[in-house]
Amino acid sequence: MGVFSANGIKNIAVLTSGGDAPGMNAAIRAVVRTAIYNKLKVTAVIHGYEGLIKAEYVNLELSSVANIIQRGGTIIKTGRCQEFFEPEGREKAAKAFKQASFDGLVAIGGDGTFTGANLLWNEHKIPVVGVPGTIDNDVFGTDYTIGFDTAVNTALEAIDKIRDTAASHDRLFLVEVMGRNSGHIALEVGLAGGAEEVFIPENNVSIEEVCKIIERGIKRGKRSSILICAEGKVAGRSYEIAEQIKKSGGYEAKICILGHVQRGGSPTAKDRNLASRLGSAAVKYLMSGQCDIMAGELNQEVVPIALHDTFSKKKKINDDWIKLEKILSI
Ligand code: F6P
Repeated sequence: MGVFSANGIKNIAVLTSGGDAPGMNAAIRAVVRTAIYNKLKVTAVIHGYEGLIKAEYVNLELSSVANIIQRGGTIIKTGRCQEFFEPEGREKAAKAFKQASFDGLVAIGGDGTFTGANLLWNEHKIPVVGVPGTIDNDVFGTDYTIGFDTAVNTALEAIDKIRDTAASHDRLFLVEVMGRNSGHIALEVGLAGGAEEVFIPENNVSIEEVCKIIERGIKRGKRSSILICAEGKVAGRSYEIAEQIKKSGGYEAKICILGHVQRGGSPTAKDRNLASRLGSAAVKYLMSGQCDIMAGELNQEVVPIALHDTFSKKKKINDDWIKLEKILSI
């Protein structure tokens, strides 16, 4: 956590970085409106950290964020910037930041965004506050990230439709959801969608065991099943799992990879309100001279979390959910 003198704070910048997530616009709106309410100037840095390096800015007024609370994506664009992960890239970004006379930065994104933000503070004393925006929900220090709830509901809607086909044709389906290195989306939709098994990076499921579950189901008259798989390190992991199931139990699984549909769409009320609360809190933290933190939500309270913790500590999967999912899919 860092402190800086916020006495003369006048001018703040906001950016979105990493994968887009539904609710990022609601967070931008909250940053802009809270800043202007408190007589601060706000500037958007376009395309995330790349825009910081290239000094790509747009001034934001109250009207710039009108009618965006319900829109998916991010109106100020996003990106994953390799150059920023080199010291030279951050040096350029810090120079441009100082030249633009910004006093603080709100960075909306996930663990990669926060890794960069933490370095920007450590190396160049740029005061940054993070707002967790990623569908993956894999950020330590916040119960939920902005976009997770919408992504889960989008995936669930698709899974419910797939279940119709699975039931009509007596089929086994393997549905792959997003979640790089994390199974939060998979577990959440697995439980909500009544899946027979959930494959997540945090928990090793044996293929033999899955085949036994399928066999047990067939014996008691079950004709269709749905398995959920988190993409893990590489999207398309479900093909490998389907092959293993075929080899081990002889079952043919149809594969459906939901992919980027989970990233788009209008945010749920839960995501909009989380975004509004955390975006507004980020500005208040900067105004009080607190930085190198993320505005997180724990037990419904907005709390500051050290940026370094957000990406260096692993957010745990709830083991009770795994157990419950198994009990309910018997
Ligand atoms: O970080 C969010 C996420 O949607 C991951 O679940 C996924 O692995 C990744 O982004 C895909 O990113 P992109 O296609 O934008 O490179």
